[in-house]
Amino acid sequence: MKKHAQSICVFAPATVANVSCGFDVFGFAVDEPGDEVILTLREEKGVFIKAIHGDGGKLSLDPDKNTAGVAAQSFLKAFASDAGVEIELFKGLPIGSGLGSSAASAAAVLFGLNRLLGHPADGKDLLHFGLQAEKVACGSAHGDNVIPSLLGGFVLIRSYDPLEIYHFPIPEELFCTLIYPNIEIETRNARELLPTSIPLQTAIRQWANTAGFAAGLCLSDYQLLSRSMVDLVAEPVRAQYIPKFYELKDTAQKAGALGSSISGSGSTVFALCRGKDTAKRVCDAMSSLYQNASISFKSWISPINSEGPRIVNLESKNQ
Ligand code: HSE
Repeated sequence: MKKHAQSICVFAPATVANVSCGFDVFGFAVDEPGDEVILTLREEKGVFIKAIHGDGGKLSLDPDKNTAGVAAQSFLKAFASDAGVEIELFKGLPIGSGLGSSAASAAAVLFGLNRLLGHPADGKDLLHFGLQAEKVACGSAHGDNVIPSLLGGFVLIRSYDPLEIYHFPIPEELFCTLIYPNIEIETRNARELLPTSIPLQTAIRQWANTAGFAAGLCLSDYQLLSRSMVDLVAEPVRAQYIPKFYELKDTAQKAGALGSSISGSGSTVFALCRGKDTAKRVCDAMSSLYQNASISFKSWISPINSEGPRIVNLESKNQ
């Protein structure tokens, strides 16, 4: 197999899964934050995690126990069983933040390995490996983080078996505000909290909002998006783990957000906004709420990312 380069550095974006009404089926990528990896081909076959930066020592260097390592092993097993790769991971995403931290690491590795080894895998293969890595990381092969991180854009997973993905058009003025309250929530635990069945009347309202949101994206109808951003399934159960969640939501709405909810399984809260100025105003208002309550947090404002992973100049990492 032709090898194009020995090393590559790749950035993969954070993602907002569920997007309020679309539990496990909607997800979108943002331009920032994200994770970066440097991949280097080695003579010795197998996957080696050289170092992880920015995780506070929480993540395992054992490739069997690390989402980046699992993704790399699946890839090599299928396409280059004699190859060896060394991974250096730079975590821009906090762990357990609901920003798709494990998914972004896996997406960066899969995109980078495919480049390094001359594109032996197609897009579907990469999604499949990404789902396997999510299963190891979170106990469930949900794709609403890893799929938008790999593909970019606003994604609907219409079916898992067989996998069927639909990319929505992104309304031009759509911006996202993210507030992360420095609290770690394990997706595995947050999924166990959820009800295994819901009343029919709840389901009817939920799928009406899911369909309404999808139509809002296709029509660039911001008010329809706003009315549809209601989650009756995951948010009511998970809100209690996020400090001042309902006050944050209220603040975001008063500052002009179209809607807000929990990003993935939390603890980040996202708000969708029409225009960057509104997103900034919403971010300031949500930030003030946390500052006044002495809650430490990080915040970001970003457009929807439409490209997925991208190659980063290796020189910039070596400076
Ligand atoms: N859809 C998943 C959940 C996303 O909410 O459990 C986890 O990031």
